[in-house]
Amino acid sequence: MKTKQYLNEQRLLVEKALAEYMLPAEGLFRQHIEAMRYSLFAGGKRIRPILCLAAGRAVDDAPAVEQALMPAACALECIHTYSLIHDDLPAMDDDELRRGKATNHILFGEAEAILAGDGLHAFAFDLISNRTINTLAPERLLAMTHCIARAAGSLGMVGGQALDIANENRDFPFETLRDIHRSKTGALIKSSVLAGALGAGADSQQIQALDAYGRQIGLAFQIVDDLLNATATTEQLGKAAGSDAERGKATYPAYFGITETRNKAREAVELALTALKCFDHKAEPLRGLARYIETRSH
Ligand code: IPE
Ligand code: IPE
Ligand code: MG
Ligand code: MG
Repeated sequence: MKTKQYLNEQRLLVEKALAEYMLPAEGLFRQHIEAMRYSLFAGGKRIRPILCLAAGRAVDDAPAVEQALMPAACALECIHTYSLIHDDLPAMDDDELRRGKATNHILFGEAEAILAGDGLHAFAFDLISNRTINTLAPERLLAMTHCIARAAGSLGMVGGQALDIANENRDFPFETLRDIHRSKTGALIKSSVLAGALGAGADSQQIQALDAYGRQIGLAFQIVDDLLNATATTEQLGKAAGSDAERGKATYPAYFGITETRNKAREAVELALTALKCFDHKAEPLRGLARYIETRSH
């Protein structure tokens, strides 16, 4: 199956599950939940949940496994969406457009946007623990939950965001740039892959291979995000183009220029594909996803 068609099909499955799981905007907290729902259902490529499901399939392609992984896959999207809401706040990147729409704080105000992010973050762990209790063995559920919590926190995405902000308008060594990208974006992407694998019962050799794959595509994803910020249009991206240079962000194009940045993304994706060598045809979606991450246009 072509990757584009696969991505579309998987995205629809994720949309359906998110719609089923997400809290309804009613009752005492209606306004708060509306703000959460606004960003969660504003679009988005749903790459993290799709990676989680694809990694699970690479290990075990039984339909029951895919079903059991869906709450964790959706939880990853909740964490990602919370990170975007907070990333766009005036105190951070101060952006007004996201997923082709007004950012959360523009529509609901800063206080509501902060709380919508907080709510989505906690809801992610509500979802994993509550919806997976009868479908996954407790040790798999625990390993998956720990993997995601670790990646979302101070040693992963949040730590990376702190480094990103601290290095605005600074001279930075290459190692800092690479660490920012591996943590602010790479950590959650890698954990999406590993969570799927852990939930599907991967053995230690498979985990090692998928750790390497996840690490490389996570880095490539942010390198390409930098590249698109520098070369694409706001209409194409659904978020402000050119904003990294304006804010003096530590990016690959700022450090290496456009051509070398493209090479770096390609190199990372090649390494990711090499890491999948021990997998059979069931890992084809993961291979397609790696190539997509390099060539995506938004
Ligand atoms: C954008 O992520 C922010 C980064 C972490 C680079 P995506 O490109 O996955 O954004 P959506 O979810 O499709 O909007
Ligand atoms: C996003 O990084 C990383 C997280 C949200 C964790 P950026 O700030 O570079 O991404 P965009 O360009 O706003 O999507
Ligand atoms: Mg940012
Ligand atoms: Mg940003």
